[in-house]
Amino acid sequence: MMDKRTDYCGNITEKYLDQEVTLFGWVQKVRNLGNLVFIDLRDREGIVQVVVNQDSGKELMDEADSLSSEDVVEIKGLVRKRSSVNPDMKTGQIEVDAKMIDVLNHAGQLPFEVKDDVTASEQTRWKYRYLDLRRPSLQKALIMRSKILTAIHAYFDQAGFINIETPILGKSTPEGARDYLVPSRIYPGSFYALPQSPQLFKQLLMGAGFDKYYQIARCFRDEDLRGDRQPEFTQVDLETSFLDEEGVQEYTEGLLKKVMHDVKGIDIKLPLPRITWDDAMNYYGSDKPDMRFDMKITDLNDIFKDSEFKVFSSTIENGGFVRAIAVPEGAKAYSRKHIEKMQEYIERFGAKGLAFAKFENGAFSGPVAKFITEEASSKLVERFNLKGGELLLFVADQWKVVCDSLGYLRRAIALEQNMVSKDDYHFVWVVDWPLFEYDEGDKRWIAAHHPFTMPDDKGIELLETEPHKAHARSYDIVLNGYELGGGSIRIHKKDIQMKMFKALGFTEERAYAQFGFLLDALDLGFPPHAGLAIGLDRFAMLLAGKDNIRDVTAFPKNSNASEPMMKSPSPVDDEQLAELEIKHVPNKD
Ligand code: AMO
Ligand code: AMP
Repeated sequence: MMDKRTDYCGNITEKYLDQEVTLFGWVQKVRNLGNLVFIDLRDREGIVQVVVNQDSGKELMDEADSLSSEDVVEIKGLVRKRSSVNPDMKTGQIEVDAKMIDVLNHAGQLPFEVKDDVTASEQTRWKYRYLDLRRPSLQKALIMRSKILTAIHAYFDQAGFINIETPILGKSTPEGARDYLVPSRIYPGSFYALPQSPQLFKQLLMGAGFDKYYQIARCFRDEDLRGDRQPEFTQVDLETSFLDEEGVQEYTEGLLKKVMHDVKGIDIKLPLPRITWDDAMNYYGSDKPDMRFDMKITDLNDIFKDSEFKVFSSTIENGGFVRAIAVPEGAKAYSRKHIEKMQEYIERFGAKGLAFAKFENGAFSGPVAKFITEEASSKLVERFNLKGGELLLFVADQWKVVCDSLGYLRRAIALEQNMVSKDDYHFVWVVDWPLFEYDEGDKRWIAAHHPFTMPDDKGIELLETEPHKAHARSYDIVLNGYELGGGSIRIHKKDIQMKMFKALGFTEERAYAQFGFLLDALDLGFPPHAGLAIGLDRFAMLLAGKDNIRDVTAFPKNSNASEPMMKSPSPVDDEQLAELEIKHVPNKD
């Protein structure tokens, strides 16, 4: 037998009753009761209680007593029934009567105790990440991530996809974020770029005839970090030839179904619902709508267009919108002070105010109540299906401000009021996207998905005249308010790709300089193709019930894109820089 271990500590249940077992693990805790010593022994599967009593001899008692937390030990013993059962533990029916204890390595002074309700500072936990990783919740999360990967590989293999690796040392491809660059020693002054995604390689693989490709691909983006973004992350990347939107979506749904089944034991119903981008924005105020709860954003322009409340009527007159959400039970739950806090928050989206009215005992109260006429009142009751106890929150502004503000409030309130459960999984496809979006930072139009996405038929015509009105043949898969993945039908004709580059402000020369290889390839027998990529880290985060992808990543970067344990990034030797002909010139200010 390869393994001396009988089983993991966490798996020692009644099935091993009266058997001798060999265990390896970490000492969680030692309790010495004088005539008995209890050792909680832990490994990745859980904890088992080991007991040493006086009958086992003084030597073993002393050995057990000398143990301290996180010592690594081998223990042999007999599994027997416990006198006091612990129903909260999988191993709670039994204990291991130790016959032999071998200390494989002692642990010194610990910077913190290994347990889930850890109190150590973030900084300490970062520095001792391997200790932090011993905590059961992180162990479970990483084991779950592994199960997801197993399911993914099995699915794609069974569905006839070919797993092909693409380069990490590549060339810059514009996906909207800054590149991580790697200097070339052989060509001083030239740089490789780490891939933001394998987008162009996978398209070229379609040109090469592989027709169904997948890869678990590491991607790198130098962008501002958030809970659901790491500079280095993993995509479940796929590409297919000769399939349209439905084809790619069907394979993706099959994949999601298998993962949900194998990892969570949940059978999701297919096909998944679809919502257009317009509807997602109008009703949920987000291009990644959280569908676990209702509380839809509702347009009230017809009700308030002639209102005495000038904030409302003049906004409508100027082409804006008055929209609201109705928060069930919100009248009692939210004080004026709390609502003022919400108003302050949504100012970041450009909102100029947050009007509210409470509906109780058949009447509206609050600052705008006096502007709600009898006719408006009955329309509001009907439109929101008000039952009593609701809080209406109104924003009057330009379309985007209204969507962003109410979209944010809708979700924040639902989370705050526990309207959702983490075990609820609502997938939705968001379809029919605009082809371009305006980048407020750079003050220019950029591709909403990426520049290789096919416009719809009308969009192809609009490319040369009014490109910003064009729609894209792209789709996002959204889970519980997170963008899980996205993809599109790709442009496979050279003339359309060139028109697309031009609409993005490229000259023909620049398009050729940067993407000549693709333009040439499209003219050499390129099949129609389409694909998608899912963020594996986000998927694992949601299935593990975590709020941050750090908790499903073994060695993540912190919010400053650094890693405090090994201390990366780090300066390098002058010789290394000299070899690369690189000199660090610090900024003067
Ligand atoms: P996109 O840029 O939408 O598409 O990325 C696909 C998915 O990758 C995940 N993701 C991230 N996860 C963690 N940290 C990040 N910094 C990060 N950035 C993205 C998200 C996202 O939905 N090549 C295209 C896909 C295609 O068209 O096939 C692409 O990369 O879950
Ligand atoms: P004011 O007339 O500015 O004192 O505003 C009266 C109420 O209307 C306050 O509760 C404001 O928060 C709200 N309000 C002002 N501007 C807007 C707006 N654009 N949208 C929604 N509510 C607003």
